[in-house]
Amino acid sequence: MATSHAESTYRVIQWATGKVGRQAIRYFVENPAFDLVGVLVTNPDKVGKDAGGLADLPDTGVIATDDIDAIIALDADCVHFAPRGTLPDLDTVCRLLRSGKNVVTPMGPFFRTERTGEYLDTIEAACQAGGTSFHGSGLHPGYASDLLPLTLIRLMSRIERIHVYETVNFFAHPSNYIPALGFGRAPDDVLANPSRSPDTHHIYAQSMEMIAQTLGATITDITTTLELATATKDIAYPGGVVEAGTVAGQHYEWTAWADGAPLITFHGFWTMGDDIEPRFDCGDDSSYRVVIEGDPGLDLSLSRGIRSNDQDGNGALPWTGYIGANAIPDVCDAPPGVITHLELGIVRPRGLVRPASAPAVVR
Ligand SMILES: NC(=O)c1ccc[n+]([C@@H]2O[C@H](COP(=O)([O-])OP(=O)(O)OC[C@H]3O[C@@H](n4cnc5c(N)ncnc54)[C@H](OP(=O)(O)O)[C@@H]3O)[C@@H](O)[C@H]2O)c1
Repeated sequence: MATSHAESTYRVIQWATGKVGRQAIRYFVENPAFDLVGVLVTNPDKVGKDAGGLADLPDTGVIATDDIDAIIALDADCVHFAPRGTLPDLDTVCRLLRSGKNVVTPMGPFFRTERTGEYLDTIEAACQAGGTSFHGSGLHPGYASDLLPLTLIRLMSRIERIHVYETVNFFAHPSNYIPALGFGRAPDDVLANPSRSPDTHHIYAQSMEMIAQTLGATITDITTTLELATATKDIAYPGGVVEAGTVAGQHYEWTAWADGAPLITFHGFWTMGDDIEPRFDCGDDSSYRVVIEGDPGLDLSLSRGIRSNDQDGNGALPWTGYIGANAIPDVCDAPPGVITHLELGIVRPRGLVRPASAPAVVR
């Protein structure tokens, strides 16, 4: 008799142990529906270390390797693929898919656009060759900017415009990336060389296209604007100081236009706390918000609960790992091919209802 979705255990490999990867290891180790069978690392200091230690857990017996061939040779149902970068290395992902392993990744691609179509065609061919599936699933894109609005539209009778807000307070959640993100630079310099590349809208275009296609709308253009705020005093953080008068707040807007009107706007608010001018109307900590103008208007805010069992540099980041990990059983059980949210529908996560384990500090 075939094993049902509810009975299966899924053998998983974690590829890369950054912030998302460590959170995923913790999820896989603690969730009885998963069996962690391999971990790929690039950092030579991590090679030969137990996966448990890399995620601040007791030893698991799974030893991290940098040997890609050894990972490919493993018997596993799925690879959670989370190295640094904007798109996964196509050859590597296709090798994994052809070797019979499904792939779930927060790197995308998430949906077919003129930029991702050819890439997804190659992935689709690898899926068919390996009898496997591929799913791009992250937080933004991958959840807050597509699945969440697509879920909310069931409550509407008419839609004028959709806004998705992402707020990250880097003062409350300091990160090594603060200088790289443009904080502390002169405003003219950041306006001339923005911290998000002019190509960034192509990443968000995938979520916008997913929404537009669902609504039967056609996106004709995507525009970008950037508004800056400056520090009203020196702002010290663990890695340095953002000096008074330099950039301490950034508000990006990416807007998808349809029929000559703005249909979808993604707002990205990054701040170094409250001592900035102008103060953005964006809430005071890391959060997401979806506002839909129409009939009836909707306003949904998403932030972490007070009993959250994690601590990392960005309050919402663990979600990125969970969104992918929770989809793995459905992706593994699906027919071969590229699977977006539109095919995946509501996922049926496994093993979430269980007693709590000790809190971990995720670096
Ligand atoms: N869609 C979303 O909402 C969303 C949100 C957050 C992140 N992401 C994506 O998820 C992925 C993981 O994010 P993260 O925050 O965990 O990243 P991270 O902490 O910056 O690093 C991920 C890991 O990638 C490996 N790595 C380091 N340098 C590399 C290089 N030059 N090329 C390839 N791999 C390298 C390292 O693994 P080892 O330490 O194991 O050697 C590193 O720890 C990224 O691609 C990110 O863009 C997506």
